[in-house]
Amino acid sequence: MLDLVSKGLFQFLASSEGLKSLASTYGMRRYGFARRFIAGESVHEAIEAAQGLEREGLSVTLDLLGESVTKPPEAKKTTREYLQIVDTMVDAEISRNLSLKLTQLGLDIDRATAIDNLRRILDFAQRFDFFVRIDMEGSRYTQLTLDMFETIWSLGYRNVGIVLQSALRRTDDDVRRMIQLGARVRLVKGAYKESWRIAYASKREVDHAYVRQAEALLVHGHYPALATHDPKIVEMIKTMARAHTAEPDRFEFQMLYGIRRDLQAGLVAEGFRVRVYIPFGREWFPYFMRRLGERPANVGFVARSLLRER
Ligand code: FDA
Repeated sequence: MLDLVSKGLFQFLASSEGLKSLASTYGMRRYGFARRFIAGESVHEAIEAAQGLEREGLSVTLDLLGESVTKPPEAKKTTREYLQIVDTMVDAEISRNLSLKLTQLGLDIDRATAIDNLRRILDFAQRFDFFVRIDMEGSRYTQLTLDMFETIWSLGYRNVGIVLQSALRRTDDDVRRMIQLGARVRLVKGAYKESWRIAYASKREVDHAYVRQAEALLVHGHYPALATHDPKIVEMIKTMARAHTAEPDRFEFQMLYGIRRDLQAGLVAEGFRVRVYIPFGREWFPYFMRRLGERPANVGFVARSLLRER
């Protein structure tokens, strides 16, 4: 019954009507329920959240929310915003690490636009020893994103890393390729709904692939970021790290802002490195919906918040 209600509410939220009414009713002023996963609208709110987490021994990566930009001036504007964010983060003396999506920088316009914008950000970031992670989007973009990453890599940029998704059948090969390059990989399960033709259909297969690829990265990779909230897999990673004598400074765990804070704190207490991905900005809806889609209980949480706020 609860599942049916969750599904209905999820579909309502995902529909354009749901989106419109949410945005107009709650806007960015009263998005209490979204605040669980999103630090705020401005970089200052994100930095405040980052400072709080860093006081607890975590490190951070900031992500200006947004994707699927289709007009060159918008992609330029996002690029300028990222330069500003680098500046602001350096001033605030928090971890020098940010995450971005190539479709924010114009990948849907053409490759040259996205590469130019990415290079502007990497050139600027390099001056401050700042690391930039390219998030991985839906499978339409996998090959393009990897091609762009290799282009950037061949131009000599080293302050940049990539994300690979264990859900995709191709990922064992991509892990091998990134190990060969010596590139820094963030390994995730994958947040996008994909066809069984290219992705594993069952959670069990995705989990197996994740563990297999995490082990390859721990043993042969260059400072991998193992991004999961799955407590069983986290335990397995700890065991594999011990077995392969991969010291805690050779890799890091990564988790999303607002998810499994208990696990984040526990790992820090045990001496592991944990980086929290902090999303912020006005374009919060697609990210928020991906988080809801991952867990029916989150839809219930939103429903309760909406009822309370009426
Ligand atoms: P899984 O979904 O199996 O969940 C394991 C447990 O984690 C759950 O039982 C629950 O306790 C908790 N949990 C997971 N999701 C939750 C949620 N939304 N709300 C509350 N609890 C939750 N994906 C992608 O395609 N491209 C990318 O670039 C990135 N980047 C990225 C960065 C970082 C730092 C992280 C942690 C994740 C991503 N992801 C991503 C998302 C990733 O692909 C995946 O969708 C989520 O991490 C959920 O998968 P888990 O590995 O946590 O396992």
